[in-house]
Amino acid sequence: MKSTKFDFESVIDRKNTNSVKWDLFDDDMPMWVADMDFKVAPAIQDAIKKRSNHPVYGYTIVPDELFESYIDWWDRRYDFKMHREDMAYAIGVMPSISSMIRCLTDVGDEILIQTPVYHVFFWVIEENDRKVLENELIYENGQYKIDFDDLDEKLSRVKMMILCNPHNPIGKIWSREELDKIEELCRKHGVVLISDEIHCDLTNPGTKYNPCNPSDNVITCLSPSKSFNIAGFQSSIVHTKNKELLDKIKSQMHIDNSDSCNVFATSAVIAAYKESEDWLEELKEVLFENKQIVKEFLANELPVIKLIECEATYLLWLDCSALNTHSKVLSEFLRQNQGLFLSAGVDFGQCGDNFLRMNIACPEKLLKDGLNRLKAGIIALNNINQF
Ligand SMILES: Cc1ncc(COP(=O)(O)O)c(C=O)c1O
Repeated sequence: MKSTKFDFESVIDRKNTNSVKWDLFDDDMPMWVADMDFKVAPAIQDAIKKRSNHPVYGYTIVPDELFESYIDWWDRRYDFKMHREDMAYAIGVMPSISSMIRCLTDVGDEILIQTPVYHVFFWVIEENDRKVLENELIYENGQYKIDFDDLDEKLSRVKMMILCNPHNPIGKIWSREELDKIEELCRKHGVVLISDEIHCDLTNPGTKYNPCNPSDNVITCLSPSKSFNIAGFQSSIVHTKNKELLDKIKSQMHIDNSDSCNVFATSAVIAAYKESEDWLEELKEVLFENKQIVKEFLANELPVIKLIECEATYLLWLDCSALNTHSKVLSEFLRQNQGLFLSAGVDFGQCGDNFLRMNIACPEKLLKDGLNRLKAGIIALNNINQF
């Protein structure tokens, strides 16, 4: 492991902190929900301590400095130009998408998503009494690509598409050409394109994601919560150049009470974007090393499982088709047998049923423990099933 300025090696006991990952269930090795087992950047911790020193925690406004920190980050890193008047604050990407579904589509409408995809996209559509329309990604030779003919046909049936850019759980960075084509098809069919870019900073070192072009039918959701491990502060923004759309969204988020700000979130977000870039760059190196550890481990110790090349996110998509076992059964077996919790691929759509998703954002020691449990679990399953 390369020496790092920041501490990505210490194992932090997160039990009894009301952590969804560590306290919701009692698995020994939770590698499912998308948060990281690393300490946040020191600048974020300092900013929170400083704010907490002030003894009053009343209602808070969203300062211009917060929006400016987003504007500067995307301009500097991704050449994506935003203006304050095109942005709205939200208490999270999914709450904002939920509000957008309510104000931009009608009950009973279909909404298009590209599966396998982040499971909460299904929930947010169905719980708002809309229907999921799947543009299933084509899986061939260990790689995914978009079925554009199917997309073209299905976009004619919907008012809204939700894009995951980069894509959770397959770890893919969509190319400029792919994005241009998606945007062109959405324009052709008068479809509002919501681009969820929450994983955008977590690319492999030396690579960058491509933001969706900010055209009139595009709404972009941005947040530091994955990149800086501050999901617990619940903070994000919505961006669109279309004033009419933005006004509708703001008004719906107001009705839904999803536009108010947590007193600590402001400090955390500003410290993340303004003072923690060097931490993020080191984190990306560590995540990349973890990916290499998994790659080598699977190749040498567990070749029955195939790793899908991961360009972004810290979520690895493992092809377990050779095991001939439904992903829910497999996931449950690993939990019972090894205390290892990996997400079942079917949670991300029926087409994900041959897969498991593994969160590798943890110190190397935990990662290796998880991998050993995976191997032991597969051996135990093999003894039972004789596959
Ligand atoms: C693609 C994607 N969007 C949104 C979220 C959640 O965002 P928030 O906590 O801001 O609602 C996640 C969390 O894993 C995610 O993977």
